[in-house]
Amino acid sequence: MTIRKILTEPDPFLRQKSKPVELVDDEIRTLMDDMLETMYAAPGIGLAAVQIGVPKRVIVIDLSKDKEKKEPMYFVNPEIMTKSEENASYEEGCLSVPNQFAEVSRPDTCKVKYLDYEGKEKILETKGLLATCIQHEMDHLEGILFIDYLSKLKKSMIIKKLSKQKKNLERIVV
Ligand code: NI
Repeated sequence: MTIRKILTEPDPFLRQKSKPVELVDDEIRTLMDDMLETMYAAPGIGLAAVQIGVPKRVIVIDLSKDKEKKEPMYFVNPEIMTKSEENASYEEGCLSVPNQFAEVSRPDTCKVKYLDYEGKEKILETKGLLATCIQHEMDHLEGILFIDYLSKLKKSMIIKKLSKQKKNLERIVV
């Protein structure tokens, strides 16, 4: 497993629509392994392939708080079948929007159809944190970031901050 570089806003690569996976083969499984390793190292609880520069419809999530017992979940070509009208709010962050957090409201439950690590079709009813996390990651597949739900002013302030951070980071690396 390899830890890959996570792209951050503002990077136009993050804004593209990811393509469906045709076959869950060893190449896709290696991608999922790398995504998981990258996510654990960050650390984060969810990651979409586009965030490490692979615009394919693949998501990994692990909500386990116990570091000894990991509970990775893999979602290939996820589709939301139904979602609740009732919303839930969380203070969201994103590995591609480092150190920025904001309250986002999303449907509290959703039913998702996807292919698992073996390529088998699965249906999962999700609720609360997992439902929010899946919806956040699925947004990445459409090129959407959580800051897109904020007011124009708040969003532009965050992007400005991130652009500045990036410049500083480049200086140090060079
Ligand atoms: Ni994210």
